[in-house]
Amino acid sequence: MKTPLVLVPGLLCDAALWGPQVEALADLADFWIPDLRTQPSIREMGAAVLDDAPFSTFALAGLSMGGYVAMEVIRQSAQRVTQLALVDTRATPDAPEESERRRELIRLAQTERGFTPVTNRMLPLLVHPSRVKDAPLVKIIRDMAERTGIDGFVRQQTAIIGRPDSRAGLKEINVPTLILCGRQDAITPLARHQEMAALIPGSELTIVEECGHLSTLERPQEVNLALRAWLQLNP
Ligand code: MLT
Repeated sequence: MKTPLVLVPGLLCDAALWGPQVEALADLADFWIPDLRTQPSIREMGAAVLDDAPFSTFALAGLSMGGYVAMEVIRQSAQRVTQLALVDTRATPDAPEESERRRELIRLAQTERGFTPVTNRMLPLLVHPSRVKDAPLVKIIRDMAERTGIDGFVRQQTAIIGRPDSRAGLKEINVPTLILCGRQDAITPLARHQEMAALIPGSELTIVEECGHLSTLERPQEVNLALRAWLQLNP
């Protein structure tokens, strides 16, 4: 039997973020990917996942903002989650200077035409330095940003600014948990993953080498291998 699997995308991303995983893991999982462009808070994003997911219980994987949402889903309804993958994410809230940088990006998105200036500024943080000029990869990222739209981006950044500190709840997680990050993740660095791994009992930390923040797109083979092994832990 296949595992029902909810894949939660990050900021300015959509189902294309998980494209390589949907293709490679179809023998093991049935997928559902939420649309997170309309909810103004992480709490409401978590509630939308729980309301709209077509499965009563499911494995749950989230990348970055998707990880913030996954931790919120656990807070609201841990009994529906059979296993958890936290990918290039963190449990800590924003530092004041991070929130200020987000407000600056919101202003940039609202004052300039289109997303090019926003993605230009974000790209060096999103991918490994060696991939910044990888045209097919950059196209996927720019296309996802266009589909998210400026209003969606503003809602997502506002939700991220207001996210809670998720660390206290991590020690209660009692499902098989994979924590995965790109070695050179510049947005949610390795130390944040080591911190989550230390808090979640029995969790496994996988580090993907030569990889930035968007590991699912940058290093799909390595990520798929880790997710395949994790899915096979299905209780
Ligand atoms: C994301 O990829 O979801 C964002 O980079 C998260 C963040 O900015 O905190």
